[in-house]
Amino acid sequence: MRIGSITLEQPLLLAPMEDVTDIAFRLICKRNGADVVYTEFVNAEGLVRDSMSTLRKLTILDEERPIGIQIYGAEIPSMVRAASIAEGASPELIDINAGCWVKDVALRGAGAGLLQDPDKMEAMVRAVVQAVSLPVTVKTRLGWDESSINIVDIAKRVEAAGAAALTIHCRTRTQGLRGVVNYSHIPEVKRAVSIPVFVNGDVRTPEDAKRVFKETGCDGVMIGRGAIENPWLFQQTKYFLTTGNKLPPPTLNERVRLFLEHVGLSVSLKGERKGVIELRKHFSGYLHGIPNVARFRSELMTIVDRQQLTERLLEFRDRTEPVGTPLS
Ligand SMILES: Cc1cc2nc3c(=O)[nH]c(=O)nc-3n(C[C@H](O)[C@H](O)[C@H](O)COP(=O)(O)O)c2cc1C
Repeated sequence: MRIGSITLEQPLLLAPMEDVTDIAFRLICKRNGADVVYTEFVNAEGLVRDSMSTLRKLTILDEERPIGIQIYGAEIPSMVRAASIAEGASPELIDINAGCWVKDVALRGAGAGLLQDPDKMEAMVRAVVQAVSLPVTVKTRLGWDESSINIVDIAKRVEAAGAAALTIHCRTRTQGLRGVVNYSHIPEVKRAVSIPVFVNGDVRTPEDAKRVFKETGCDGVMIGRGAIENPWLFQQTKYFLTTGNKLPPPTLNERVRLFLEHVGLSVSLKGERKGVIELRKHFSGYLHGIPNVARFRSELMTIVDRQQLTERLLEFRDRTEPVGTPLS
């Protein structure tokens, strides 16, 4: 499949996640098999107002490509202007957030709020598509709530408006990030449109990804929290999809190596203290499944400098097991 300048085959995409998919984590996922990565959502009004903290979110590195910049907003003129500003950062894709469930966004007519106004969503996508020369993709949900699932209509409208692909988080807005995902609407969406359809929601293992491809007939799978819990998930899934076999789990040595690579990236991009502190949300992922690790993880949470973090991790590795022993 081709989207603008990118060619993709059964792609695995890193989901946009606020305060998580920064450059360092995007690079880690990219180096470990993600085919496309996305920035966190970027506020259109902030871009239009020239807010420095918002503009910084547009920074991308060549190594991350292909990358999508995701924007959100309730007003079509601001979204059009924001898309042009985001285009200036030269991503491969501009993504419109039509799925954010949090009150401050959705109840103000942005994000998943657009699901309650399909005419506006269609007009917004059309206006943004016309304003930029990059492909525009849309990320949305099944509907506002269980009684108003309108994803098939939305998909047709988004395609008619010129979107290049659609990602569907298979929950409703009222479910937020919890509750059971429902992939059952995707085959109908696939029959209704010819643009690529990517499925998102609760893909935590290579087997989950395989099942989603098979059950839904989707063109790609987008992974969010599963990648935080297990930064190797993209490469493990790729291997499983192409060979039918499972890669051995990363050894403790490999875990520590990738953890330290992430520390290095985070510190070089954000500075020592911020780089270490903002990495804390990823500690569990690297240490996941190691027996009796809770105390060690709590201890790491108190560290604010790279040198100490590195030393503690290497010590932990050396005292825990012989280097290279696989963990289950
Ligand atoms: C911490 C966090 C931040 C998120 N931020 C965004 C965001 O900026 N834009 C967006 O479209 N979705 C956002 N999401 C939703 C994810 O992209 C994804 O749709 C959701 O987590 C379901 O996928 P998963 O089960 O693979 O995590 C966020 C989710 C989490 C957990």
